Amino acid sequence: MKGIILAGGTGSRLKPLTSYINKHLLPVGPYPMIYWPIIKLREAGIKDIFIITNKQDLSSFIELLGNGEELNVNFEFGIQKKAGGGIADALMSARNYVGKEKFVVILGDNIFEDSLIPYVKSFLKQERGARVLLKEVKDPTRYGVPQLDEEKKSILSIMEKPSNPPSSYCVTGIYMYDQGVFNYIENIQPSSRDELEITDVNNLYIENKQLEYDILQGWWIDAGTHDSLFQANQFVYEKTLKEDAPNE
Ligand code: G1P
Repeated sequence: MKGIILAGGTGSRLKPLTSYINKHLLPVGPYPMIYWPIIKLREAGIKDIFIITNKQDLSSFIELLGNGEELNVNFEFGIQKKAGGGIADALMSARNYVGKEKFVVILGDNIFEDSLIPYVKSFLKQERGARVLLKEVKDPTRYGVPQLDEEKKSILSIMEKPSNPPSSYCVTGIYMYDQGVFNYIENIQPSSRDELEITDVNNLYIENKQLEYDILQGWWIDAGTHDSLFQANQFVYEKTLKEDAPNE
């Protein structure tokens, strides 16, 4: 399996920090934010990693990460054609890279405790389709929120940033897809915020009865705001730093 990390976007909620630096290069603990999803993919045995970022930030990522040798992984880089075009739009840049393989996508600002190993295993057993990871959160209105049938362990639909959330879970920025995702992306339209929404893509998987889910057990943070970036730093320093060293 291959891994994709999305590291573009505008980082608008982290201004003025992001006026001069890409969000995913900001520090979380002693490392740039993007190291954490890289470590999670590597731990799950996924060493071929495609990093998608904005044109103007590409050289910084290459300078920091090179070809991956230092971290014992293999990096290739892609450019998100339309900065601010949305997660699904950015993902299109990975089409040739993944070919016919299944792959894991992590939003580069999602910092979390769980190992991906059991989830990747379950996804590999899944004949086709996609798998998302959920987490119970205090303020679901900030996220994509699933309506669940917990008895049947199925997602009935997902709403993006709903004012009346149908559950207290959010769909985290950790997604597993088969190559069908690219056809679905071609069939969606920009949302009211003028983005191609990954939630619309996931809803197409639901319509075709091909979306499975697991629930994260440990802490999870979308470090895209000042508060959550601070929290991510706190968690990393308090809980994981002793165990993870990026050069191992
Ligand atoms: C994005 C997705 C949303 C998901 C969240 C997780 O939100 O659109 O469904 O719950 O990432 O981090 P955004 O960061 O674009 O607000």
